[in-house]
Amino acid sequence: MRGFQVKELAHHSKIELAYDVPEPEPKDGEILIDVYSGALNFFDILQAQGKYQIKPLLPFILGTEFAGRVAQNSPIPLGCPFKPGDRVFGAGQGAFADKMAAKLDSVLPLPDELTYEQGAGLYVTWPTSYEGLVGRAQMKPGEWVMITAAAGGVGIAAVQLAKVLGGKVIAAAGSQEKLEIAKRYGGADYLVDYSKPEWQKEVMKITNGTGVDVVFDPVGLIQSSFKCLAWRGRAVVVGFAAGSIEKLPSNLILLKNISVVGLHWGAYLHEKKQIDVVWKALFHLFSSGKATPVVYSEIYPLERLSHGLAALEHRKTYGKVVVTIKKDDKIAAKL
Ligand SMILES: NC(=O)c1ccc[n+]([C@@H]2O[C@H](COP(=O)([O-])OP(=O)(O)OC[C@H]3O[C@@H](n4cnc5c(N)ncnc54)[C@H](OP(=O)(O)O)[C@@H]3O)[C@@H](O)[C@H]2O)c1
Repeated sequence: MRGFQVKELAHHSKIELAYDVPEPEPKDGEILIDVYSGALNFFDILQAQGKYQIKPLLPFILGTEFAGRVAQNSPIPLGCPFKPGDRVFGAGQGAFADKMAAKLDSVLPLPDELTYEQGAGLYVTWPTSYEGLVGRAQMKPGEWVMITAAAGGVGIAAVQLAKVLGGKVIAAAGSQEKLEIAKRYGGADYLVDYSKPEWQKEVMKITNGTGVDVVFDPVGLIQSSFKCLAWRGRAVVVGFAAGSIEKLPSNLILLKNISVVGLHWGAYLHEKKQIDVVWKALFHLFSSGKATPVVYSEIYPLERLSHGLAALEHRKTYGKVVVTIKKDDKIAAKL
């Protein structure tokens, strides 16, 4: 089968697609997936170079998030809710290949209304945004919410969700193009470009001098957001896309009764019940059409995966960047 196999740790541009990779053999509690689409994450770039916390033994196949079908030759462990052919999405090591093995507890049914491309980028992104706003920030309808990297994978999901939850949403991003995306696909009410100096003044103007109640931040702009956070504001630490980890001065947290809360969705296996609550809410939003996963305009074939990773690396993308591995059967049947 084909697979983007890392034989030696290297930058992704130095890795070529292999055509002779053996099919994975699922272990106990795993199922075999025919991968239709894989979603790209910044950590894929790091993992190929051995710079990510998860370091699989060499050689390994890159890629974590996927959507596809349970393979016809998959083992079906006891209690498995799926049968061969079922549409699924989830996460596991080795998504950038024709087939991958995934743990049953990391696989969910793909809602009928979503394509494989949309489904590939759901597993990590959407629950992060939902839990960040609802579980951690305790966002209420009518509140001011500012989302940074508002056109990014996590950010644009958060913009859509904050709108659905009744927030007055300020999308903040690093360029006018990205702000337009956050408005078009996220429905943001106001747009602020944080590449401009003193951008926080713009936020204060929009909020009539009160500041925002919630900041959802995947970038590492928590400290600079304090300037436009309201009394009793909540700031959610989601990520550090800008590359450095902030050290926050606690006097600023004290001054305005601010709460700074962290979010690590990948660690929620300790809170299994909450995982179910979050997915139930998200599935409802997808089926009612109130939320729609956003896929970057250029969908890459597996052969051009490295171009997709480069676009992500150079901050050129929006929504989820996706690679197509197998064509949707319904669409393929019509061709
Ligand atoms: N806490 C969790 O459980 C959790 C879960 C998922 C993801 N995350 C984290 O959330 C962050 C965003 O993930 P994502 O999937 O939304 O990523 P993404 O789609 O690549 O978006 C990241 C955005 O960050 C902004 N950015 C600002 N400075 C940047 C820089 N120096 N280099 C690259 N991007 C920069 C860019 O938007 P502008 O150009 O508009 O500034 C970029 O589009 C990542 O750090 C990820 O690890 C955390």
